[in-house]
Amino acid sequence: MTENHETIDALQWEKRTFAPSEAFKKNSLVVGTHLYDEANEDYEAFWARQAEELVTWAKPWDTICEWNLPFSKWFVGGQLNVSYNCLDRHVLAGKGDKVAIHFEGEPGDTRTVTYAQLLDEVQKFSNVLKGLGVQKGDRVNIYLPMIVEAVVAMLACARIGAAHSVVFGGFSSQALADRINDAEAKVLITADGGYRRGEVFALKPQADEALENTTTVTSVVVVQRGNNPVDMKQGRDHWYHELMATASNDCPAEPMDSEQLLFLLYTSGTTGKPKGIMHTTGGYLTHVTFTHKYVFDLNPEKDIYWCTADVGWITGHSYIVYGPLSNGATQVIYEGVPNFPGNDRMWNIINKYKVTIFYTAPTAIRTYMKWGVEEPAKHDLSSLRLLGSVGEPINPEAWMWYHENIGRGNCPIVDTWWQTETGGIMISPLPGATTTKPGSATFPLPGVGAELLDDAGKPVTRGGGYLTLTHPWPGMLRGIWKDPDRYKDAYWSRFEGRYFAGDGAKLDDDGYLWLLGRVDDVMNVSGHRISTTEVESALVSHPAVAEAAVVGANDATTGQAIIAYVTLVGGSEVDEQVLRNHVASEIGAIAKPKTIYFTPDLPKTRSGKIMRRLLRDVAEGRNLGDTTTLADANVVNELQKRAAEAPSED
Ligand code: WTA
Repeated sequence: MTENHETIDALQWEKRTFAPSEAFKKNSLVVGTHLYDEANEDYEAFWARQAEELVTWAKPWDTICEWNLPFSKWFVGGQLNVSYNCLDRHVLAGKGDKVAIHFEGEPGDTRTVTYAQLLDEVQKFSNVLKGLGVQKGDRVNIYLPMIVEAVVAMLACARIGAAHSVVFGGFSSQALADRINDAEAKVLITADGGYRRGEVFALKPQADEALENTTTVTSVVVVQRGNNPVDMKQGRDHWYHELMATASNDCPAEPMDSEQLLFLLYTSGTTGKPKGIMHTTGGYLTHVTFTHKYVFDLNPEKDIYWCTADVGWITGHSYIVYGPLSNGATQVIYEGVPNFPGNDRMWNIINKYKVTIFYTAPTAIRTYMKWGVEEPAKHDLSSLRLLGSVGEPINPEAWMWYHENIGRGNCPIVDTWWQTETGGIMISPLPGATTTKPGSATFPLPGVGAELLDDAGKPVTRGGGYLTLTHPWPGMLRGIWKDPDRYKDAYWSRFEGRYFAGDGAKLDDDGYLWLLGRVDDVMNVSGHRISTTEVESALVSHPAVAEAAVVGANDATTGQAIIAYVTLVGGSEVDEQVLRNHVASEIGAIAKPKTIYFTPDLPKTRSGKIMRRLLRDVAEGRNLGDTTTLADANVVNELQKRAAEAPSED
């Protein structure tokens, strides 16, 4: 089954399939292949039809797409306002009283915001920003907890044509300073603090520290949330509620060019300084509105949608703020952690608001697995009709757990592959039309071109390869802020004329795509190129294992040896040898880990991705490099101790 010359060996072939049920199909937006057929004919015309149907334009475009490889422009000459599309048009259509956001604070406080109220607050804050001297084309930094004001701030920027740059509230003052400096932001919007795990974490003091190392910010707006004591610098710092109290609620939405910069969002990547990913107006809004509607099969009159991401990540931008609001959806926003006050908080919220669509990440699902099925079983989850996953490959067993315990066996799961750079979902099932397989993101969406290539750039039709995108799409990044050369080098240099952003994938006999993780993580064991994802999924398929991270460490005999870090399901025990044999029987002896470390937690980035680079350092006994992007640095210290103590077993 494995050949030495393969780009990435494909070891695991999943057989289970799940067709959409008749009951689901009955009310679904798309049940056949017509959208795919239409897009295959002419993808530009397809996207143009979506832009016309789903988005309201102040002025029609002249050209659908200008493609000057690798730079694209969409709906050129057209004008629109994103905040108008997310707010005004729903209110004008008589839906002002419809709930836009059910906000649930971590301490249990709640706030219900209708579309009319949100429009009112956004207009006021737009005037506040103008009053602070913000003009079209300026950049505004946002450093807030997951509160309604974060949505207001983003939409107010969009309304007046200022680009926002949101920095996740968990990032350090240094990370904030770097991003403010790169974007040359004029205003910073932050809060005194927010709630996390039952305590207030301070944001304003971090912001103050960052501002000592920046020169461009002239005003700071501070939302009162944590009620923790903060210093307000005279002339620079203002309370949000004080500015809002006197602001006019009349700020008409000004039409923007389709290619007006909407936001910058920084991704750290594996090396070098963070890249300011640029997204613009018309194409981005079309992409996220279309995908949010069809991938989540949205019925805005009936559905209660909940995406658990933070607004600091692209998922929060596209599938909390812009996609759902443009579609006039009702959604839940939750401020805090999933285990406060108990391990069942998420399930409690689903029942409380009767959530119908739930979109979360594999890392969260594996954590829920670890906490046990008793937690969701405490709550009535029968309102749910559709589940989604994003951020990492979802292991087939995690998929099955999600399907059975959260979806109660009758909710389709959409595993959505995309990136900060792609702006919106690219590869995913359409839930009423696609038969899913656990762990596969299935097929490119209509209007998206994807192809696997081998080392030589030749198409792969079965087995593993590099995932490339074959033609431009409306939500694609327009570049890296102030660095066009880096843009070309990072995404367009590996394969001629193709977008490649570092993921491996495989194709099965039915043409389904299976994401295999970052190609930088692929291990080379005795000439076999094995993806970490497949070995991790084999480990997770053992009933005692909740989560696994696998890395290749230098090995004198085999080139690299597979080292696994495993977290068990609460209360379980299992012998290392049993797990090694389990992997051998699941996917082959070649993939058997040389050493397995048991650990209560894995090192993850703050967005929940496993930090394999650090685990490689641990496995090879190196000093750890940069650990500042880690969510919890203690995890690694603990692992280092164990690695030093445990002799590797062969
Ligand atoms: C990974 C998050 C497998 C992938 C939206 C990608 C996934 C990176 C999936 C982008 C998925 C995201 N299956 N892998 N469904 N979704 N990824 O920029 O490696 O935070 O390149 O965007 O996450 O991460 P980012």
